[in-house]
Amino acid sequence: MCGIIGYIGQKKISPILIDGLRKLEYRGYDSAGICVLSQGELKTIKRMGKLEELAASPEVAKLDGAIGIAHTRWATHGEPSEKNAHPHLDCQGNIAIVHNGIIENYQVLRDLLLKEGHKISSETDSEVLAHLVEKFYQGDLLQAVKETLLLVRGAYGLAAIHKNHEQIIVARKGSPLVLGLGENEMFIASDVPAILEHTKKVVYLNDDEIAIVGQTDYQITNLEGKEIDKKVEEIKWTVEQMEKKGYKHFMLKEIFEQSEAIANTLRGRIKDGQVKLSIDFDVKKIKRIIITACGTSWHSGLIAKYLLESIAEVSTEVDYASEFRYRSPMVGYSDMAIVISQSGETADTLAALREAKERGAKSLGIINVVGSTISREVDSGIYLHVGPEIGVASTKAFTSQVVALLLLTLYIRQQKGMSLDKDLLRDLSDIPEKIDQALHRAEEIKKIAEQFKDSKNFLYLGRGLNFPVALEGALKLKEISYIHAEGYPAAEIKHGPIALIDQNMPVVFIATKNNLSEKIISNMQEVKARRGIVIALVSDSEEKVEQIADYIIKVPETKDELSPIVNSIPLQLLAYYIADLKGLDVDKPRNLAKSVTVE
Ligand code: AGP
Repeated sequence: MCGIIGYIGQKKISPILIDGLRKLEYRGYDSAGICVLSQGELKTIKRMGKLEELAASPEVAKLDGAIGIAHTRWATHGEPSEKNAHPHLDCQGNIAIVHNGIIENYQVLRDLLLKEGHKISSETDSEVLAHLVEKFYQGDLLQAVKETLLLVRGAYGLAAIHKNHEQIIVARKGSPLVLGLGENEMFIASDVPAILEHTKKVVYLNDDEIAIVGQTDYQITNLEGKEIDKKVEEIKWTVEQMEKKGYKHFMLKEIFEQSEAIANTLRGRIKDGQVKLSIDFDVKKIKRIIITACGTSWHSGLIAKYLLESIAEVSTEVDYASEFRYRSPMVGYSDMAIVISQSGETADTLAALREAKERGAKSLGIINVVGSTISREVDSGIYLHVGPEIGVASTKAFTSQVVALLLLTLYIRQQKGMSLDKDLLRDLSDIPEKIDQALHRAEEIKKIAEQFKDSKNFLYLGRGLNFPVALEGALKLKEISYIHAEGYPAAEIKHGPIALIDQNMPVVFIATKNNLSEKIISNMQEVKARRGIVIALVSDSEEKVEQIADYIIKVPETKDELSPIVNSIPLQLLAYYIADLKGLDVDKPRNLAKSVTVE
């Protein structure tokens, strides 16, 4: 997704803006631009491609001024090009804007502006905003932006400057924006990492809020001008946490920090045989649970379904957020909607949350990013506390989501007056140790990756709680190595996919010990009989499987309820090593973004 940074202060502005965009590169982009108010004029430089193209241009180094905005663009309307890159200017070159989101009614507005004689040079929806501000500007930039936004339908995170004003106007609806409060300087950004090295004091804007930001102060109102008093939050993440800590990629760092991350998720939440969660409504009254999410978060939701129905004995369904939001779902007051989102900004998940709330459901978020939009719109929530996840492919957030969902499951069971399995609680508390043991197998997994880095297809098969793990393993592989991979319930292969099996098809079986072990061994034999290549994840003591499989990946034995957490680790590593051996951009895979804030 696009990245925004703005600065108003006395320091050399271009390094602040360019470095800020660098910290947002993980969000995915295809072009970048900067605009600085310098000697009374707006100086704008834009480049296609990587940020270094922009950073290396001599004009950027020469930029000098106290106010500026910059942007990395992930194309939605109009192909990636210098012309379509932000910032966009009005006809006179007096106003510059940068925008994240989608203006749904931009075509109508564009036609109106063209009729009025505006020269619109790009194919983007965003440029329309610059010309609307120009249309309404009569000396008051804040007022002109407000009038513009009252006409707009869709999502925006917007920053605007004018050559006659020592201020930045920012506004948000559906796309995050944060103010950074410095000493005699101010920052604005679409995400905290862009400004964290300058200040830890931030103010998050909510939807339909607009702010006028000066060098030493700011004011936030709604679009009608009503002043809004906001809490200043202190960011706990250090810049160092954002860095790779010596790992080759953020993804590898995040895979290896999972035992520490999960320990943070668990911290303070299991005490004296009880689960301690602060849920702001009575879960006993919940008759049905609907889980909605996207991608990897949807996979953790599928795992939660098995747990919630078998342990908390609550009927549970799982829906892709993009489907849920449009299918007029049967949701009511006795339902709880669980929305799972690492970023807390995924547009489809946010929309599904709003749909469920509108229909009367209680809402609970399983979120990583503190202060994110979804975290501020749910009735209650469980933060993951795993620190920033920079790699586009989700790893520590996924395993942490599963842990948080298991805690919630046990909490619901406990609130319903049912006894908790003390062994399960103990093993859950000890899971960071098991994760470390699984990580110790990394070198063995790397060797297997070397055998399969040129494969064209993969199948991942699992049963029960490990069927969603198969889906997740397949997603990890395809999104960073670009190898086609499918996850399937193991028993399902005889209903079609078995036709794919031949000597070129590696099949990953998640075959750790559980009540279905015998069945999965039969599935494995079906694959072997057709010359498929079997890579089997097995618990430490699985001799039978070892006689059948071509490759074995051992994982520490755990209770079945905890197996998705431990079994995901080798699958993350397998995907990572294959992608890295192929020399691909593991942290920023092609076509992907870390946070999909558009539909
Ligand atoms: C996961 O590896 C993917 N990058 C993607 O599927 C992601 O899980 C999905 O976009 C949802 O993101 P969220 O958890 O931030 O809502």
